[in-house]
Amino acid sequence: MNQNGNTIAVQCRDVQKSFGQGNAVNHALASVNLDVFAGELLMLVGPSGCGKTTLLSVIAGILNHDGGDIHLFGQNLLALGNNAKARFRGHNVGFAFQQFNLLPQLTAVENAAVPLLVLGWPRRKALDRAGDFLDKMGLGTRLKSYPRELSGGQQQRIAFARALVHEPKLVVCDEPTSALDGKTGEQVIGLLKALAVRPDRAVIVVTHDSRIFHFSDRIAHMEDGRIVYTVITGNIKTDGEKQ
Ligand SMILES: Nc1ncnc2c1ncn2[C@@H]1O[C@H](COP(=O)(O)OP(=O)(O)OP(=O)(O)O)[C@@H](O)[C@H]1O
Ligand SMILES: [Mg+2]
Repeated sequence: MNQNGNTIAVQCRDVQKSFGQGNAVNHALASVNLDVFAGELLMLVGPSGCGKTTLLSVIAGILNHDGGDIHLFGQNLLALGNNAKARFRGHNVGFAFQQFNLLPQLTAVENAAVPLLVLGWPRRKALDRAGDFLDKMGLGTRLKSYPRELSGGQQQRIAFARALVHEPKLVVCDEPTSALDGKTGEQVIGLLKALAVRPDRAVIVVTHDSRIFHFSDRIAHMEDGRIVYTVITGNIKTDGEKQ
């Protein structure tokens, strides 16, 4: 908890991540310092290539960072062995990728159910639950369609349902409205806010879509692999930030 009484869901301290070697090294994350509070929806904005997807990936444990510390709900993911890390992520993290990453051989409802199946839910129960989430996303009639039979916006909503279906404590979404029209984008982010933002949970959304900024509690601005400033846009109390 910080001095303002906020519980810290995600803590990043001097987080670094590079790609490549020697002359070709690319410091995608130069030094990221960021706290994401439980109960907040934080949006992350910044120019193409500044490190947004890389930051989401190291926070979600999809990539390992190579310097600094990340704690998720007090847990240092790098301190866990591979199995324990996979278990922790399976229960606690939902990820909607920029490129959707749906499995082409699975139907919409099977794709959305993947996190539950990985957690060992019985197939019938997992598909029912995933079907409910797709229904909320306006895809109730397309449960048995394959990704190739669906539009980009429909695929994006499946990816979104998959991120939320297991009610993880942390949801991270990379450009979740990029393939959606304005009205559907607002509906989906409204649902995200209603379903995933709770006092003990947090959501991080990478976006450049100003139509959805009003759903945020704070907006963090990133440049050249660093958070350069954050702006409070909702009800979160913090010190030392632009308001
Ligand atoms: N797997 C990789 N191998 C090499 N370089 C990478 C890799 N992934 C990202 N990078 C580089 O790291 C930097 C940050 O990339 P990242 O994808 O995090 O940017 P971004 O802010 O998400 O951009 P966009 O808004 O275009 O999605 C870029 O210079 C990119 O080329
Ligand atoms: Mg990106």
